[in-house]
Amino acid sequence: MVSAESIRAGFGGRFGGEPSVVVRAPGRVNLIGEHTDYCGLPVLPIAIDRATFIAAAPTADGILRATSTAFPAQAEIARSAPRHQSEPWHQYLSGALHELAAVAPGRGANLFIDGDLPAGGGLSSSSALTVGVISALAAAWGSPLEPVEAARLATTAERHAGAETGGMDQQAIALGRAGNALRIEFLPPAVRYVPLPEGLAFVVAYSGQDALKGGSVRDAYNERVVGTRIAALMLADMLGVELEGTPLLGNVAGIDAAGVMVVELPDQMAPRNAANAVEANVERVIQFATSHFDSARKVPVKRYAQHVLSEAERVDAAEVALAAGDLKAFGRLLNESHDSLRNDCRCSTPALDKVAAAMRKSGAFGARLTGAGFGGYAVAACPPAKVQAVVEAAVAATGGPAFEVTASDGLSFA
Ligand code: GLA
Repeated sequence: MVSAESIRAGFGGRFGGEPSVVVRAPGRVNLIGEHTDYCGLPVLPIAIDRATFIAAAPTADGILRATSTAFPAQAEIARSAPRHQSEPWHQYLSGALHELAAVAPGRGANLFIDGDLPAGGGLSSSSALTVGVISALAAAWGSPLEPVEAARLATTAERHAGAETGGMDQQAIALGRAGNALRIEFLPPAVRYVPLPEGLAFVVAYSGQDALKGGSVRDAYNERVVGTRIAALMLADMLGVELEGTPLLGNVAGIDAAGVMVVELPDQMAPRNAANAVEANVERVIQFATSHFDSARKVPVKRYAQHVLSEAERVDAAEVALAAGDLKAFGRLLNESHDSLRNDCRCSTPALDKVAAAMRKSGAFGARLTGAGFGGYAVAACPPAKVQAVVEAAVAATGGPAFEVTASDGLSFA
């Protein structure tokens, strides 16, 4: 069991002495609202009781040295030249250094990183690492950050590490609250706590396949970002709405006719053709912080938009079901979300389908993939008395691991 004490001891063993700061950055499980955040539409995640711990102490030499029990290769990164790391987890460290360039320049730090949050995609281990490292370094260098600020900087840091994320994960990790889900909105930014009713437990289950958002999944993820931007551009044109900047479905979702017009969208279209059709600059559709997207590549448009617009409605309905304590209705919404992710967003896998089905069959109210999909984890909502059966069914389906998670507090100093 990882604790503040064990990580202090680990720090002492590696670097000698005591850390000046220990940060706990939990993972997150998104309950519903998948592939909506980058469209500016709401999400409903929880922070969980599995976390990454970071022990930090400042040094005088301008070098960041970091050891992780979960990842290979110790990091040694000069603050003066943080970019160009080949080891994937070092890229998150260098992204963090880049965001903190103005804080205590010239100083370095020693970091010891440990935890019980599995990597592999779905539980946001990379965002927990980035939010936690930013928060620990800023505090060690004498300029502690508000959690919401650490989340903001981590989102940019991860984009520079190549993962074009929508911003849900970092906020859930920074702002989570025990016993609550968070409804996070983006247009304009807002967070509201949604109390979880009695009689509701959560199990997460690994599908057996990794889905790393900074790696194998990046291109498939970006395709969905581009497809939904094309949909927003074209719907706005059909509805006679002017959109500034990056076109987001969240800018048109509130217009009644949008739900009807979505069937008029093309099945597939290349960004270049979409931009030409509405006389827009193609860069508005394919702009990413680091990755390149071919403007001539055809991407699905209608189905991605249908998923996103229907998912946003399910987020609202899920919040109503939680407030009413209607856990069957909540479970049905999770199932419908999974079906939409499989059929329209097309980001499920046979293993995720299988584990979700097994968890439903063993007594869950509902189950769905969580996070970007393409592998990683699924989540089930179930009665507390069924947790054991649901865990066993999940392990039988895919080999595990599967375990209960509870809604926990976000980022904290231990
Ligand atoms: C990943 C991203 C999030 C979000 C989900 C899909 O986890 O990091 O920002 O887009 O995928 O809902």
